Amino acid sequence: MGTAPRDQVTPEGVYLHRRELLKNGLYAAGTALAVGSGMTWLVGKAPPPDAPELPALAGYQAAAAPYTVAEALTSYHDVTTYNNFYEFGVDKEDPARNAHTLRTKPWPIQIDGEVAKPQAVDAETLAGWFTVEERIYRMRCVEAWSMVIPWLGFPLRDLIARVEPTAKAKYVEFTSLADPEQMPGVRHRVLPWPYVEGLRMDEAQHPLSLIAVGLYGKVLPNQSGAPLRLVVPWKYGFKGAKSIVRIRFTEAQPKTTWAVVAPSEYGFYANVNPAVSHPRWSQATERRIGELGRRPTLPFNGYGEVADLYKGIDPRTLY
Ligand code: MTE
Repeated sequence: MGTAPRDQVTPEGVYLHRRELLKNGLYAAGTALAVGSGMTWLVGKAPPPDAPELPALAGYQAAAAPYTVAEALTSYHDVTTYNNFYEFGVDKEDPARNAHTLRTKPWPIQIDGEVAKPQAVDAETLAGWFTVEERIYRMRCVEAWSMVIPWLGFPLRDLIARVEPTAKAKYVEFTSLADPEQMPGVRHRVLPWPYVEGLRMDEAQHPLSLIAVGLYGKVLPNQSGAPLRLVVPWKYGFKGAKSIVRIRFTEAQPKTTWAVVAPSEYGFYANVNPAVSHPRWSQATERRIGELGRRPTLPFNGYGEVADLYKGIDPRTLY
């Protein structure tokens, strides 16, 4: 991502790294934002507000094996104030400050491409088709920090079965909203908008792949990707596209945002792998937000049951 792990850099390090990014033409128009935010970072900003009180989501099943982990949950405060959502700004606390401008009702989602039943459906209607369950997953960001989050959502594979992809569908592409009126970060070319992510069909159909509609028993906060976002716990967090407006089934591998911006640093697969360093930092350990010290990073983020999906592929190419 644009910034290195919070506990490994000085403020100057963050600032200088952003300047390095700005030399790249793609980031040029982001100058005002990045220099501006770099400067305010140096002098300090007011703390972000707590997430607004959100409605509870009733009637979901409590998390059970294999969809839970025996590790302490990251606090609701940390989950909702330490975010990556560049559409609302590049600093970790910017989404909590700015995402109140996102309007999540109505929220039409386009489902198209290689699919027997292309359609436009509102997020609430879509979520109503499926049984929502709680799943407690580790989330490991490529920046070497991690959290444990109690998501509410439904298996992506249930959605795929309902819309009937054709035999040509090899991948699923997820596109996030990019509306400069609701999302101040989109007015700056810090990334080529909209944010796009994707999975191979067999990855998308793995039981662990989740479409989240809530967390901590409540509706998803805007900064977490309301009204619905992708969660793929064995991959780096950037695969989890937020505030999705389009789900497209494709024959060709989707051109995913970070792999387009920095292909030597962020790949399409992005499987968590402590043995393969990021070019600028090690991936061997991580800082669990809210805890002191570092803990070892686990292969596939501890979800080794997915290894079968990658038989015969050199794991070093799966970054
Ligand atoms: N989705 C969109 N649309 N825009 C983003 O900037 N950031 C990604 C991912 N999804 C991002 C996004 C990254 S880098 C991470 S680590 C996770 O969201 C962070 O999710 P969280 O803020 O809920 O912890």
